Amino acid sequence: MESARIEEVISDFLTLRRAGANLTALCPFHHEKTPSFSVSPIRNTFKCFGCGKGGNAAKFLMEHEGYSFPEALRWLAKKYNIEIQETKPTPEQLAAHQEEESLFIVNDFTLKFFQSKLPGAGLNYLKNRGFAEATIQKFGLGFAPDSWDALTKAATQAGFKLEQLQKLSLTTSSGKDFFRNRVIFPIHNLNGKPIAFAGRILSSANGGPLPKYLNSPESTIYHKSQTLYGIHFAKRAIRHQDECILVEGYTDLIALHQAGIENVVASAGTALTTEQLLLIRRFTPNLHILYDGDLAGISAALRGLDLALELDLNVKVTPLPHPDDPDSFLRRLGIAAFTEYLATHAKDFITFKASILLADTDNDPVKKATAVHSIVDSIARVADPIKRSFFIKECASFTGLSEAILTAETNKAVLALPLPKATFLGVRDKPGVNSPLEPVPTGREVGGVESHLVFFLLEHGAEIAHASENITVAEHILAHIEDVLEHFEDPRCQRICRESIELVLAKKPVNAGHFIAHEDLDLSSFVSSLMHKEDAPIAPNLEQASFNTKTDGGPSCTEDINKTILRLRLKTISQLCEQNLQRIKDTPPDDEQALAMLLKVHEKLNTARRELAESLGLVRF
Ligand code: GTP
Ligand code: MN
Repeated sequence: MESARIEEVISDFLTLRRAGANLTALCPFHHEKTPSFSVSPIRNTFKCFGCGKGGNAAKFLMEHEGYSFPEALRWLAKKYNIEIQETKPTPEQLAAHQEEESLFIVNDFTLKFFQSKLPGAGLNYLKNRGFAEATIQKFGLGFAPDSWDALTKAATQAGFKLEQLQKLSLTTSSGKDFFRNRVIFPIHNLNGKPIAFAGRILSSANGGPLPKYLNSPESTIYHKSQTLYGIHFAKRAIRHQDECILVEGYTDLIALHQAGIENVVASAGTALTTEQLLLIRRFTPNLHILYDGDLAGISAALRGLDLALELDLNVKVTPLPHPDDPDSFLRRLGIAAFTEYLATHAKDFITFKASILLADTDNDPVKKATAVHSIVDSIARVADPIKRSFFIKECASFTGLSEAILTAETNKAVLALPLPKATFLGVRDKPGVNSPLEPVPTGREVGGVESHLVFFLLEHGAEIAHASENITVAEHILAHIEDVLEHFEDPRCQRICRESIELVLAKKPVNAGHFIAHEDLDLSSFVSSLMHKEDAPIAPNLEQASFNTKTDGGPSCTEDINKTILRLRLKTISQLCEQNLQRIKDTPPDDEQALAMLLKVHEKLNTARRELAESLGLVRF
């Protein structure tokens, strides 16, 4: 992080203009006409005064490219030619890594091979479908010749091993090409490396003996359930527009891109998985499902719906008129009318589900009840109780049922839901998912408050807390917790704070980079994951509003920091209170002197506790 120059990193993505000691640009994170995005080479940070986003070079990459913290570090390391030793790889890991790298190289070769075979039947097909040269180039489209072994031969002649081709299923076990006489769509991972291929038959007619599309089977570098077609091309636009459009088909996605709608990914005809939705959620919480208006499309959309709701995505659905799919619809309407259609026909999930399910009931009460149960079941998956109650209102107006009944049914359904299963994937427990009640602020998150404070310390430590007094955030935080430091529960947080005090005394900046580069690997990985967590939604109620959105170091963030300091002190003092009470109980009743002293301590602690709680707004008198 010391080598990374913020202005160099950002100018890889934006055009910066000098403005005094700083540089400015149009903010990439929100829409604006005059630049409020500022880069400070002196502090090595960026900050947007319009939307409040800010931080160091790693933070910029996380925001702009959707990287996780470790991914951002890898990017920076590459740019500055720094070698990262992530963990000492075992010989097996090393071999696996080399194996993976070599498979990417095979796929690269294959992609170029298919591209070189495009002129002729393949190119004609794509041109007939209206795809421009630039689009074809951008997506790396190609053609697998009508031959038994053209690729296998070319690859082995170029020195690749048959075994590797077979590992990627590019060559079958009998030595033949897997893709023959098909237009090829390379499938890339998030970082733009080709991991698999899909091939489409040339004839437009469906129902022949051959499947319309053929997909690479899974391999060590291709896991279907974790892949979304087009995510690499779409990620920046998704973040920028704060919405992800989901379509089914490869050609749908490409057609939309060509028309300038770039915030789109394709599920490639399979049921959506949790991993895929989490991938989307790294870039935006807003999902817009755009599906063919036929039965298959609708039921696919319905399937994706509940899963998306559980992951706290805001879901909209636009069904297209049958028999169109996004590609044909766009070609028929043109981009202006198409965009207009999306804007006017997008339905929230409840309207969508209700319109589908209730339409089929022929006013049969039993069928209607089944439909309502299914709708209620979806509403129950919405984590936010406020959103839930809005959906209940809507459902009431659709069905004519009372809100009270629907609320009661929703609460029942909430209780019946299994616990969220994907915690390890970064989905934290949402208070609303498990309980039908409003989340109760407990004010005593176990251990969490220490790491929250450390997060602030490392994220904003080098920034100025009080301009007039020229005090850094680190100095501010450390001065306010020094006396409770010995009572920390988490030894890692304690150690970070202690070493930060030393940094401050040595007039060195306090930041995450220092600890990530720490010789103590436990500490370093603790800090990496702590800083990384920041881009995932933080559940504990009190933080929800502020902690993960306001990182600007401005007044609102200072308020968060101060609250966290107060909560930490409150936690410590509560502990001391309890310990002291225990001591009072343990003291023999005739030891009046000791008792008097302990009671005095008790009174003091209690007063301090009440004052702290009051300033936190946890109790009112
Ligand atoms: P075009 O017919 O070329 O416009 O493709 P499409 O994407 O409109 O096709 P369709 O709507 O039929 O299918 C949607 C997606 O489902 C495709 O893009 C494929 O990812 C997948 N798909 C369709 N047919 C098959 C098939 O036969 N096999 C496999 N593996 N996937 C298919
Ligand atoms: Mn199509």
